[in-house]
Amino acid sequence: MDSVADPAPPKKSLTALCAVVTGANKGIGLAVVRNLAELGVQVVLTARDEDRGLAAVRSLHSNGLTNVLFHQLDVRDPSSVTALACFLADRFSKLDILVNNAGVSGVDVDAERLKALKVDPESWLSGKATNLVNGVMEHKYEDAVVCIDTNYFGCKRVTEALLPLLRLSPIGASIVNVSSLRSELRRIPNAAIRAELAEVEKLNEERIEGLLGRFLQDLKTGQLHVNGWPMMLPAYSMSKVVVNAYTRVMARRHPDMRFNCVHPGFVKTDINWNTGIGTTDDGARAILMLALRPSGGPSGFYFQETTVADF
Ligand SMILES: NC(=O)c1ccc[n+]([C@@H]2O[C@H](COP(=O)([O-])OP(=O)(O)OC[C@H]3O[C@@H](n4cnc5c(N)ncnc54)[C@H](OP(=O)(O)O)[C@@H]3O)[C@@H](O)[C@H]2O)c1
Repeated sequence: MDSVADPAPPKKSLTALCAVVTGANKGIGLAVVRNLAELGVQVVLTARDEDRGLAAVRSLHSNGLTNVLFHQLDVRDPSSVTALACFLADRFSKLDILVNNAGVSGVDVDAERLKALKVDPESWLSGKATNLVNGVMEHKYEDAVVCIDTNYFGCKRVTEALLPLLRLSPIGASIVNVSSLRSELRRIPNAAIRAELAEVEKLNEERIEGLLGRFLQDLKTGQLHVNGWPMMLPAYSMSKVVVNAYTRVMARRHPDMRFNCVHPGFVKTDINWNTGIGTTDDGARAILMLALRPSGGPSGFYFQETTVADF
């Protein structure tokens, strides 16, 4: 399979769908919410900051998209995740679409100096610019912990809490985990780590989290390069590597649902200090395609935008 060209279900059937998008007060998440709402889907826009989330919802309402609701969600806070699950259970009694989109970069960047470097997109994406950009980035252990807790544990926390509702979707729920090109195994220099992650049948949360523990220990002790971890945005890269691994675990465990992960494209947003090229609508396209696939669509795949790619 190389690309997915099946049409989305007809609009009429979409009004019965309920969706949740995490980290949706801005960027790609907000574009996903807007596009889903324009198709008639009932969408819960979530954001960790209530003011920012409500402002986003108000702007959608003022454009006639009254089928968007707000609920606070900090994916790092278990009580916030539980509160969202309770709200959804009361309000909808099922969930058809979950987009795990919330994410942080895990580095402290001097944005002005980064801008002055004028790194071209090809060098960013290929990793050729690693040494250059590392000159204006600080890889602090505390930021790495936050990054992994947000991008991987946040995705897992929200998915687990919403599973009972996702199971109740009559069409087979679709879970889209927003990943990144940085997740690709070929970008990890250490062959043993690549091999460990490629053993799909043996993957589980314990193995994934054991690997993350080793990564964080090496980051703390300055052993990342020596031990062959990715050096371009190390914590971000590893957080997305394991989001992909988790996606495969969940796809195998829940054949009644569709779990996929997707690189949304290189989009101009705050997470990349606005170095991206595409618009947030460009970034939403592949996420929407996967979210709206009818039951029986692919599960356990990694997509580079709308095309299936190697993990
Ligand atoms: N832009 C790209 O080129 C690109 C490429 C590959 C992958 N991605 C992925 O796309 C996703 C969306 O990123 P974006 O480009 O749209 O960046 P963005 O504009 O910076 O959006 C990130 C969103 O995540 C939210 N967030 C951060 N921590 C959170 C937490 N603990 N709980 C809930 N929400 C939290 C942010 O909320 P606040 O406003 O409160 O900070 C914001 O709404 C991310 O997963 C990113 O890794 C983006």
